[in-house]
Amino acid sequence: MSASTWTVQPDDRERVIKAAFEAKEFAYCRYSKFRVGAALLTTTGQVIKGANIENASYGGTICAERTALVKAVSEGVRSFTALAVVTDVASAISPCGMCRQVIREFCAQNMPILLVPADYEKRLAGGEPDGGIKETSIGELLPDSFGPEDLELPRDH
Ligand code: THU
Repeated sequence: MSASTWTVQPDDRERVIKAAFEAKEFAYCRYSKFRVGAALLTTTGQVIKGANIENASYGGTICAERTALVKAVSEGVRSFTALAVVTDVASAISPCGMCRQVIREFCAQNMPILLVPADYEKRLAGGEPDGGIKETSIGELLPDSFGPEDLELPRDH
């Protein structure tokens, strides 16, 4: 699977990045103190935000990426053109394994996933190309993955 991604218009790219930063403000992370914000851009240009939501029973925690996806899908929105993720770390942080599998369910293999460093604005102002964003895709993050199409394959039994 190709690791390259398609192109998102610069204004849409800025909107989805800004939304991920906004989403992070609502992170409920009293246990880890690790804030994560995610935002999805939809094919109609809508932006859907999600933050990590922790739980006193730690396993009940929901990551920001899954919050955004579950919000969207449960409102009937299933066509996405980009995902942005940001934390408070000054480098690009990558989605966890469970989120990768959920992203795989709903996003194209080559949909751009923008991993945004917390100091994105500062880096841009300092002239760093792309503000230090790491652009990737689920094809790259989860190679040789299992997905919905696999359940459609002919079976021996
Ligand atoms: N977290 C996310 O929201 N997304 C990820 O992909 C990695 C981890 C959250 C879960 C938990 O609230 C905190 O970060 C620390 O693991």
